Amino acid sequence: MNRRYRKTVIAGNWKMNMTASETKKFAEDIRKIMPRAKWCETLLCVPACNIPVASKAFKDLRISVGAENVYFEEKGAYTGEVSAEMLKDLAVKYVIIGHSERRQYFGETDQTVNKKVHAVLNAGMSPIICVGESLEQRETGITNEWIALQVKSALFGVPADKLRRCIIAYEPIWAIGTGKTATAEQAGEVCSNIRATIRSLYGARVARSVTIQYGGSMNEKNAAELLAQPDIDGGLIGGASLVPEKFVEIINAANQE
Ligand code: PGA
Repeated sequence: MNRRYRKTVIAGNWKMNMTASETKKFAEDIRKIMPRAKWCETLLCVPACNIPVASKAFKDLRISVGAENVYFEEKGAYTGEVSAEMLKDLAVKYVIIGHSERRQYFGETDQTVNKKVHAVLNAGMSPIICVGESLEQRETGITNEWIALQVKSALFGVPADKLRRCIIAYEPIWAIGTGKTATAEQAGEVCSNIRATIRSLYGARVARSVTIQYGGSMNEKNAAELLAQPDIDGGLIGGASLVPEKFVEIINAANQE
C-alpha cells in the first residue's frame, strides 16, 4: 500500500452467492463488528438483483455496493442484460469488469472488457478491471507480457483524467477459489509491473495514483503480508468476503496505521 498517492480499497466479490434475505442477515452480523476504517474504502460487489437490498442494508455501515458485471450497450434489445445507467441509477459506484470467470464461462474478451470499461466510466462509475494469467502462462514465463497486454487492451482509448477512477485487480487464475495464494513477492512483482505498464502509457504521476488490488484466495491470514507490498493497494476477495468475521479482519489488515 502507499496511502500517500492512492486509496486502499477492500472489495468483496460475492459472485453467484447470497439471496436477498441472506444479504440482510450478513448486514446484521457485520454491523456488530464493522470497524471504523479510516484508511481504506470498503465495498461489496453483489449479484445485480440484490443491489437495492444491499444498498439499504449497508447504508450506515460504511460499505459501498458494487456490481459484478455490466453490459456495454446503452439500452435496447439485449434480453437479460443490465446497463451502466441502470446501475448508476441504483447509486452503484464500482463495477467489476472482465473477471476471469466471465472470460472463461461467458465469452468475455479483451475487446468486450474495453467496451465495458468505457460504458462504466461514461456513466460516472469506477471499473474494477480484472487481469490475470493461467498456471500454464505462469509456467511458460509469459505472465508479465500477458498481463501488460490485458491492461493495455482494457484501457484502450481511456483518457488520463478517467484513468484515475479505474482500479486494476490482479487475479492469477490459478489462485482464484483454489486456496493457493500467490506469494506476496509474486503478487507484488506483477502489481508493480502493472504500474509500470500504466506509467508507460500515461506517465508517472497518473500511474502512482491508480489503485491496484490483488485477488485470489486472499483471506484474513495472508492479507497483511500481501498488503505490505508497495504496489498492492487492496484486495478483491471472493470466498472470505462471504463471512463477516473474515472480511472484517481483512479490512483491519488494510486499516493499520
Ligand atoms: P477468491 O476469489 O477470493 O474466492 O479466490 C477472488 C475473486 O475471484 O475475485
